[in-house]
Amino acid sequence: MATFEALLKSSGLPAAEARLLAAHALNRDRAYVAAHPEAELDERAIARLKELFARRRAGEPIAYLVGEREFYGLMLRVTPDVLIPRPETELLVERSLARLRGREAPRVLELGTGSGAAAVALAHARADAEVWATDISPAVLALAQENAARHGARLCLLQSDWFGALAGERFELVLSNPPYIASADPHLDQGDVRFEPRCALVGGSDGLDCIRQIALGARDHLAPGGWLVFEHGWDQGARCERLLRELGYAEVADTRDLAGHPRICEGRVA
Ligand SMILES: C[S@@+](CC[C@H](N)C(=O)[O-])C[C@H]1O[C@@H](n2cnc3c(N)ncnc32)[C@H](O)[C@@H]1O
Repeated sequence: MATFEALLKSSGLPAAEARLLAAHALNRDRAYVAAHPEAELDERAIARLKELFARRRAGEPIAYLVGEREFYGLMLRVTPDVLIPRPETELLVERSLARLRGREAPRVLELGTGSGAAAVALAHARADAEVWATDISPAVLALAQENAARHGARLCLLQSDWFGALAGERFELVLSNPPYIASADPHLDQGDVRFEPRCALVGGSDGLDCIRQIALGARDHLAPGGWLVFEHGWDQGARCERLLRELGYAEVADTRDLAGHPRICEGRVA
């Protein structure tokens, strides 16, 4: 037997992380863990917790260990098949919702939906929208479906290589958080990113391969006056704006994230 306090202290992790993992392993909330430092745990619980602590010390992301991450106020299930939804991507949802304002029952497409985070948040906020969401990976689509059902969001989910399975379909808004890290970027070997699927992260030698394909293809899938809104890397803003202008998009603009980095690029077709 050991107490919570002794176990958390010996975890070698920041207290907040250790408490979160303990709450998950014991199916309790964090407040319970914090309020009961003297509680005694049995051998099985101790073994379960020690294993989680060891995996976290080895770098595994908390979201994969507990199987959840909150996004746009919604708790989503995540697995190592999908990117862990990021706070920056909430800005993608905000810009998309801003571009949908005043449009009734819009048709919306999210490319590369992963856990379904952006599509579920959008469908949740705009119940009148017809939201389609695609990904190249079938495993990802099953998880997105689960997250949509969890929040009562209606999504039309489709396996597609970008616009490959969308011939003839047009939307008032296309949004995406595509893979945009350059293949030689050293960040790929650091922190949580090491554990995330490469195909969700890497966008070719300059990181912009997927963005180029999406910006090019979206022109044939946007309804007149429709918007393309997408996320990009912190240093890619000027290149993304230039790309959209070269492809004939109007009202091209980029919005900065909370850290002050250009993050979400958007443009409208005529
Ligand atoms: C950066 S992740 C974004 C996931 C999710 N939308 C989010 O914001 O958390 C990019 C997603 O694009 C998908 N993807 C990569 N290549 C693709 C392709 N050729 N066609 C469609 N989806 C693709 C990946 O499987 C991954 O789920």
